[in-house]
Amino acid sequence: MINMKKTLTCSLLFALALPAVALADGAAIYKTKCTPCHGADGSGQTPVGKNLKVRDLRSPEVQKLTDADITKVLTDGKGKMPKSKLEAADIKSVIAYIRTLK
Ligand code: HEC
Repeated sequence: MINMKKTLTCSLLFALALPAVALADGAAIYKTKCTPCHGADGSGQTPVGKNLKVRDLRSPEVQKLTDADITKVLTDGKGKMPKSKLEAADIKSVIAYIRTLK
């Protein structure tokens, strides 16, 4: 009986916590993990961004990449861009955020 109660409480907590994680703020993730190289506005006009010659995330060339393309860049890294180590839900939020930059 006690065990069942525990399981119930656990699943309840889990159910409550999950949407909060899924809605993790893409803007906040971008700000902490991506800004040093890509700039707050996505232009890449930061000392590191200029050095690495990152493309403007707002440009048509980058915006035309599909969500799957960007997910791959974020999970596997690309050239001098390191893997982001973000969870799938965070990758989704951050991609949604990149789409708002254009
Ligand atoms: C250490 C610097 C660095 C960080 C941090 C970084 N990037 Fe990048 N990013 C790069 C570089 C360099 C490229 C270009 C890779 C290439 O084409 O060789 C790139 C490419 C990209 C591209 C593909 C655009 C293209 O030019 O093909 C996207 C989208 C992107 N980054 C998003 C992000 C997001 C979102 C984050 C944060 C989670 C992030 N990056 C963090 C350096 C960085």
